Amino acid sequence: MSDLIKEIQRRRTFAIISHPDAGKTTLTEKLLLFGGAIHVAGAVKSNKIKKTATSDWMEIEKQRGISVATSVMGFDYEGYKINILDTPGHQDFAEDTYRTLTAVDSVIIVVDIAKGVEQQTRKLMEVCRMRKTPVIVFVNKMDRDGQDPFDLLDELEQELKINVRPLSWPIDMGQNFKGVYNIYEEKLDLYTPSKQTITESVAFKDVNSPELEKFIGDKLAKKLRADLELIEGVYPELDIDTYLKGEIAPVFFGSALNNFGVKELLDCFVRIAPSPRPVQAEERIVTPEKDLFSGFIFKIHANMDPNHRSCIAFLKICSGEFERNANYKHVRFGKMMRFSSPTAFMAQKKETVDEAFAGDIIGLPDTGNFKIGDTLTAGEELHFKGLPSFSPEMFKYIENADPMKSKQLNRGIDQLMDEGVAQLFTNQFNGRKIIGTVGQLQFEVIQYRLLHEYGAQCKWEPINLFKACWIESDFPDELENFKKRKFQYMAKDKEGRDVFLADSNYVLQMAQQDFKNIKFHFSSEF
Ligand code: G4P
Repeated sequence: MSDLIKEIQRRRTFAIISHPDAGKTTLTEKLLLFGGAIHVAGAVKSNKIKKTATSDWMEIEKQRGISVATSVMGFDYEGYKINILDTPGHQDFAEDTYRTLTAVDSVIIVVDIAKGVEQQTRKLMEVCRMRKTPVIVFVNKMDRDGQDPFDLLDELEQELKINVRPLSWPIDMGQNFKGVYNIYEEKLDLYTPSKQTITESVAFKDVNSPELEKFIGDKLAKKLRADLELIEGVYPELDIDTYLKGEIAPVFFGSALNNFGVKELLDCFVRIAPSPRPVQAEERIVTPEKDLFSGFIFKIHANMDPNHRSCIAFLKICSGEFERNANYKHVRFGKMMRFSSPTAFMAQKKETVDEAFAGDIIGLPDTGNFKIGDTLTAGEELHFKGLPSFSPEMFKYIENADPMKSKQLNRGIDQLMDEGVAQLFTNQFNGRKIIGTVGQLQFEVIQYRLLHEYGAQCKWEPINLFKACWIESDFPDELENFKKRKFQYMAKDKEGRDVFLADSNYVLQMAQQDFKNIKFHFSSEF
């Protein structure tokens, strides 16, 4: 096997996603400890926005600034190169997380045993489903009382709309938590309360052996045997291919805080999780090991320094090898570019790299050349399909508050939208610009950045909108008819696609009823 193929196949690029507070940061930290990337607990600067700061977005941006270095955490573990992509915890930045999911090959979902599946997790899972991303579930906080594990599995299946297969099984929980039976490795992992040490493991192939009673007592041994029998009867054996297709999610139980079940999760993860997967470009499928270098920008992190607009563009390498100072084609510009100081993210340090491989994420210092979704290649005309835009949750008209600065305002809006801060719709009826976001915070971010980076002042005006729907039809006449009838509610998105702005659920339902040949989509990719 060539070195290039070996390098690519040992890469595991993934994101940990969860509803805030389920334990994503804690789990990330424990994984880094196992990888030797950090040496003491508490070393990870949480990318989580502190609860007290939720209304103070400047504080949030400061924290986000600090966290650029931890946006990607790379380390080696047992011959594998692990790249963990961090995602912002605050739900107002959910769009960032969606985009990050375009750059990963698999996902670990953390669920709190007491809280079960929460809203944010449900939404993020939708994106994984759309992209058929393989997921593993880690049920956290087993040292606390929570739901019955079978009920939780049902909830996972129903709420996340995916089949599940437990690969470990808890023995009681909360104060009485004894540990887990590791179905995947056929061993008994015993939990020692209040002792944050590596798990005590006992190889245990036959749970019917009377030895089991010695470890966990009569009652729990009986229950464990019955539970495992039920699992074998109800849940299909784990079929790796089905997992890789994103159709079944292996489930582990543990306690990230107590470092319990984390190593087991990691050991299984590196074995079954995919190395970089083939990526569908508009032109063809790109194969990581066979094709020359290609990659796409999935995130742009602006520097908050108002004096110069410098950013870091995050590139996911889809195929081949990237080399420093080589000439690569910026497909949208149709011109060749060289990068003299690409950075890689190892542990918590950012350092210049000479080479990187498919699966890796590198940071490219940028002064406005890139926008989200841009493709770089060794020369070929390739366009990677980006992530669809989702209908925003909140809408406002953006207006110029300083007539002398309208140029600056328009440039600022364009660039911030290229960065993916929010979505822009232009109303076809009155030409007014509408900004759509997933949370109130983005409006404040946009206003502040327009002023400080572009010297432009904007003001917001309310608009009553329920959803933005991308529309299409196999019947061009009907589409034209619809657009004429709904002229006042028609807009174009940034790519010039037709969008219907429905001001209420009722209006949307009526439109769907009256125009049966028109398809209304809540995301821009269909
Ligand atoms: P997040 O990134 O998903 O938002 O969650 P984070 O890891 O910050 O964890 C949220 C809270 O849950 C933290 O407590 C953390 O210590 C706790 N936690 C994580 N894993 C476990 C676990 O296995 N068992 C128990 N009992 N708690 C767990 P906090 O008090 O909010 O913060 P901190 O002061 O401990 O940092």
